[in-house]
Amino acid sequence: MSVAGEWCFFKGQFMPFVDAKVSVMTHALNYGTGCFEGIRAYWNRGHEELYVLKAKAHFERMHRSCRVLRIDLPFSVEELTRITIELVRRNGYREDVYIRPLAFKSREMIGVRLHDIEDGFCIFTAPMGNYIPIDDGIKCGVSSWRRMDDNMITPSAKVTGLYVNSALAKTEAIENGYDEAIMLTQAGNVSEGSAENIFLVQGDTLVTPAKGENILVGITRNAVMELAQQELGLPTVERNVGRSELYNSDEVFLCGTGAQISPVTEIDHRKVGTGAVGPVTRQLQDVYFRAVRGEDPTRPHWVHAVYGGASAATHAVAEASH
Ligand SMILES: Cc1ncc(COP(=O)(O)O)c(C=O)c1O
Repeated sequence: MSVAGEWCFFKGQFMPFVDAKVSVMTHALNYGTGCFEGIRAYWNRGHEELYVLKAKAHFERMHRSCRVLRIDLPFSVEELTRITIELVRRNGYREDVYIRPLAFKSREMIGVRLHDIEDGFCIFTAPMGNYIPIDDGIKCGVSSWRRMDDNMITPSAKVTGLYVNSALAKTEAIENGYDEAIMLTQAGNVSEGSAENIFLVQGDTLVTPAKGENILVGITRNAVMELAQQELGLPTVERNVGRSELYNSDEVFLCGTGAQISPVTEIDHRKVGTGAVGPVTRQLQDVYFRAVRGEDPTRPHWVHAVYGGASAATHAVAEASH
């Protein structure tokens, strides 16, 4: 069970988490009319420092999600970044943390719509280890639940109600003995996991479903493409991916803020490649975990140091204008 940090940010101020309450009649609770982000902060024991990962990209995406839901988010990306750093600092973590900003239709009312309803916003935090296993390889099953289409609830926005689609797929997968679900589009192409993007390694190339394939365009997905190209010399092709390619690739892995980089060694009872974690996935994990823990000298802009005092705030402004 996740235990939230002592402090959260709600109604425009820092307050004890136990005091941050909403009514059971809240619009978002009844109709799924909220949107959120999931951000990680990584503890680096050697540095005695906590690093918030890619805050700018997350809050830019949150602004885009809010636009879809007609939610007025009254803080800029720079302000949200500063609030997040201050919140995590107040909670005093010395371990890996998950940060959850949530914007939502806050009125207590009955009636389905988006317009003319006031909005609420909060950020809370909780310690978080691995969301799914990352060491030995996981087993996935292709879901009987199809990914939501762009003109139903757009998966490009991180809408709370959309996660019913993910939850249906995840529970089905677990109850069928898998670790995670892989969802297809209405057309039958590979889309993504329940909370992760998917990559296939085919020879010297990475392949991932294109943006039009009803994916959430993941921040980790972008990070993986950058690392693969710049550190491993491997290009990524974004295109439609057929189901049978899941069974015939050298390696497959899932990625996301929660999932990090999680090797997939079995899909629908078929071994992926040799059935062991592949070398490309391992190398990507190595460079990814170095960067997220603030140990990649070429990527200081990926992270914000929480306990770095004045320098953290300066960095926040620097990255926000990066
Ligand atoms: C449905 C879905 N796809 C992909 C991702 C990966 O996105 P990101 O790397 O930005 O966390 C997530 C995780 O948030 C997700 O929920």
